Amino acid sequence: MTQGEQKQQVAREAIKYVVDDAYVGVGSGSTANYFIDELAKVKHRIKGAVASSIRTAERLKGHGIPVLELTAIDTLPVYIDGADEVTEHGAMIKGGGGALTREKIVAAVATKFVCIVDQSKLVGVLGGFPLPVEVIPIARSYVAHELVKLGGRPQLRANFITDNGNIILDVEDMRILNPVQLEARINNIVGVVTNGLFADRGADVILIGTDTGVRTLDAHKF
Ligand code: 5RP
Repeated sequence: MTQGEQKQQVAREAIKYVVDDAYVGVGSGSTANYFIDELAKVKHRIKGAVASSIRTAERLKGHGIPVLELTAIDTLPVYIDGADEVTEHGAMIKGGGGALTREKIVAAVATKFVCIVDQSKLVGVLGGFPLPVEVIPIARSYVAHELVKLGGRPQLRANFITDNGNIILDVEDMRILNPVQLEARINNIVGVVTNGLFADRGADVILIGTDTGVRTLDAHKF
């Protein structure tokens, strides 16, 4: 089975977590795009969606799914999104597509985070994928120096500006043994908007696409 087929099967499985007559939070990236296409088939069952990026909002609207601002809704039972890396405990690296800040905000509001990935994304230790850090542009050099002090090798993401008008530093060479601690430490650097560690509020459920079907992990059991 190809990586694309694995993404498609988890996207289909994720529809089971969509709550009827409610809003659903929708992430960004290729796996989230598969999910949006599946969501379109059951759009009559939901009130609408909250998007984690401009691209996601456009794809949802293209399917005729109403897109609401996060400020306009009271509750969000579920948020469904991909990841660049995820552990069995539900800690993730996200932001490969650069939408990490809005993703983290929508995830914070949601009651349940369902992470949808192909099997290549499941890892024992986070950090093989460069950790994205969204930074206010004038703080770029300062933040880069602070990230070097933490043992990383920050690289400016070329020709990229986030939906919030900021830059991204992708930090290589991080072997992340304590993701909750590192997430807080990086967030404390002045000029950092968000970092791509989703550990303090990680995934609750992980759906993994494999050659033999979808594996479902309850992150709280590990
Ligand atoms: C975007 C993200 C994506 O969820 C992550 O990059 C995974 O993308 P894909 O589903 O295309 O593999 O965090 O900011």
